[in-house]
Amino acid sequence: MDHSIALVTGATSGLGYAAARILAGEGWREIIVTGRSLARAKETAAQLAVETKRQVFTPLELELDTPSSVRSALAALVKRGRPIDFLLLNAGLVPTKARVITAAGVEASQAPLIGHHQLTVGLLRANLLRPNARIVIAGAEPARGGVPMFKYTDVPAFAAKYFRGDQTAAVEALLRNGPNVKYVPNNAYADAKLIIAWWVAALARRLPSGMAVYAVSPGGATDTKVVRNAGPLLKYVFIPIVNLIPGMNQTPETAARRYLQASEFGTDVSGQFFASAQGKFSGPIETQRHPHLHDRTSQEAAWQAVVKVSGVDLSHPASLSAVS
Ligand SMILES: NC(=O)c1ccc[n+]([C@@H]2O[C@H](COP(=O)([O-])OP(=O)(O)OC[C@H]3O[C@@H](n4cnc5c(N)ncnc54)[C@H](OP(=O)(O)O)[C@@H]3O)[C@@H](O)[C@H]2O)c1
Repeated sequence: MDHSIALVTGATSGLGYAAARILAGEGWREIIVTGRSLARAKETAAQLAVETKRQVFTPLELELDTPSSVRSALAALVKRGRPIDFLLLNAGLVPTKARVITAAGVEASQAPLIGHHQLTVGLLRANLLRPNARIVIAGAEPARGGVPMFKYTDVPAFAAKYFRGDQTAAVEALLRNGPNVKYVPNNAYADAKLIIAWWVAALARRLPSGMAVYAVSPGGATDTKVVRNAGPLLKYVFIPIVNLIPGMNQTPETAARRYLQASEFGTDVSGQFFASAQGKFSGPIETQRHPHLHDRTSQEAAWQAVVKVSGVDLSHPASLSAVS
């Protein structure tokens, strides 16, 4: 992959900010940094330029909850007409105790995937990803299960119980947090990251042959703002206890480096979910082999549900020709 143009979503804090800084250090020629407002994106770009002593940051307004903001960002990228080599879909959040549904009818922790899908499909349609582009989206260990306080939904069972076995309808219910979904913030987060892992597998089957997409958990890096909205039990009990255990936490810089590591992976592992070893939140990343992550019916259902909720599909994937 050429180290030319990268785009990092959610660059105004935490891992997105750290990733943008590292990319500059590694010689990327331009790093587009997004923020929910142009003012925040500009402030971030300016701060990064001072810190890295490199004038390579381009601010871009992108509020992933709002389809019109994604469309405006896409229009700005189309106007520039310069293809992206590395698309880092990092923005995300652990949701609040009080259930938040966006104006577009999506649960707040699920909303970044909908915006990321609209952005990615828009870039593909506009031929604004290089033929060998790499797409990395932030995943998290709860998607594979076994993380205390975070439980993902057994989607096939949920679909069988409430949706006559229709997994697409079941995933749509999770994206919208209803009907038949009880709101539990940490579980909504686990579901959001599970749907991301499935979406990545389905997108990989639709990408032109030279491109690749991976879900990558940055691992535990609690020195970011990720749990700013989380409940007190997670913030003041679970995380401090986990942080006492060696190997369960790492710096934002180390966590962000996982994204960059994955950006060098080959097309042979496109569509896979990379995370810490079982029982860990740091250390080397490895492919996650849990059977539910590899259920093709669930993967395709997730894709179809995201298409339905976002209103955007790759209608003719085979005919997509990337710019050179
Ligand atoms: N830190 C960890 O331990 C950890 C572990 C596993 C996975 N992750 C994942 O890593 C990613 C980055 O998290 P972080 O730790 O860096 O958290 P962070 O410090 O809170 O940064 C998250 C970034 O995403 C942006 N963002 C969130 N929702 C958005 C939306 N709807 N539209 C536009 N921007 C949005 C935030 O913007 P605002 O500040 O304006 O809201 C912020 O710039 C997330 O996807 C998170 O789930 C983190």
